[in-house]
Amino acid sequence: MSFIPTLTRLALGAGLALSSLGAAQAAEDVTIGFIVKKPEQAWFINEQRAATELGEEKGFEVVSMAGEDGQQVLSAIDNLYSQGAQGFVICPPDVRLGPAIMRRAEKYDMKVVTVDDRFLGADGEPMEKVPHLGMSGYKIGQQAGRAIAKEMQARGWNPEEVAALRITNYELPTAKDRTDGATDALLEAGFKKANIFDAPQQNTDTSSAFKAASPVLSKHGEFKHWVIYALNEESVLGGVRASEQYGLSADQVIGVGINGSGAAFAEFQREKPTGFHGTVAVSSTMHGHQSASNLYQWITEGEKPPANTETTGQLMTRDNWRQLREEMGL
Ligand code: GLA
Repeated sequence: MSFIPTLTRLALGAGLALSSLGAAQAAEDVTIGFIVKKPEQAWFINEQRAATELGEEKGFEVVSMAGEDGQQVLSAIDNLYSQGAQGFVICPPDVRLGPAIMRRAEKYDMKVVTVDDRFLGADGEPMEKVPHLGMSGYKIGQQAGRAIAKEMQARGWNPEEVAALRITNYELPTAKDRTDGATDALLEAGFKKANIFDAPQQNTDTSSAFKAASPVLSKHGEFKHWVIYALNEESVLGGVRASEQYGLSADQVIGVGINGSGAAFAEFQREKPTGFHGTVAVSSTMHGHQSASNLYQWITEGEKPPANTETTGQLMTRDNWRQLREEMGL
C-alpha cells in the first residue's frame, strides 16, 4: 500500500473535504469482484463487461469471476480477499447459499450486493440486508405472456388447439415470478388452463430446458400449436430446439424469452425465422453497471444501496432487435 492512498484514507476518516486528486487515488485503492453463476452466458458476459468499463472509467479494479457452485464461490471470495478487495457483486449459483456466502464475506469485512438472483435466508425469505438489483420478474413475465397472446391472435390460432410448454424453475424465486406472470397474462387473454404443461428444468440454461421439454412435447402429441415460455431466452431456445427435433415447424410454435442478449441476437440473425418469436429485453449493461456502481459508492462513500431495485424490459423481435439493441446499449 503506498503512502498517498493511506493519507487519503486518513483524510476521509477525519471527515476532510475530498480533493479531486484524493478521489482518484481512493478509486485506485478499490477492488471489487463480480461473480456470476453462468460465465459463458451472454447476459453475464455483458454484465461483467459493463462493470469492468465502469471501473476503467472511475479508476477502480473489477475482477470478473465464475461462481458455478458453492465451492467455487467461496474460493472466489478467498481469492478476492488475497487481492485486497473490499467487496463483490454476485449472481449466486443457488440463492440458498446466501447465508454461507455472507458468513465468508463478513469474515473478511467485505461488502456484498446481489444482482439478478436474490439470496434467500435460512427462513426461505429474501435476505433484506443484502442490497439487490434485479428485474421485476412478475411484470416482465406478464410482458412475455402478453406478447405470446398477441402473436397467437395475429396467427389466428384456435385456443383449443394450442398447448403451452411452461419451462419452470421453482427453486429460483425470480424464475417462478416470471413464469407466473406469463401464465397469468395468458390466462387473462383466454388461454386454456388445462393446456398448460410444465417442464421443470434443473438449471437455467439451454441444455437443461431442452432435456425438460422433449418428453413433454412427445407426451402431448395431440396439439397443433405450441407456445413456449421460461425464465429466460436461453431456456426458451432449449424448448424451441426440442420442438424442432420433435418435428414442429416454425409457424406452429411461438416462443418468447426474457433477457435480450447475444443468445437472442444469434437467433434473430438466422436467415429463416424459427419458433423463437421474441424476447423481453432488459438491459444487462445497466444491471452490470448499476450494481457495480452501487457497491463502489458504498465502499467509497459509505452510502448503502437501496434494498431492492427492480428493472423493466421491452419486447424485442426480429423486426426491432437491432434498433432496441442500440437504444439499450446491449
Ligand atoms: C437469472 C437468469 C438469467 C437472467 C437474469 C436476469 O439469473 O438465469 O438468465 O435472466 O436472471 O436478472
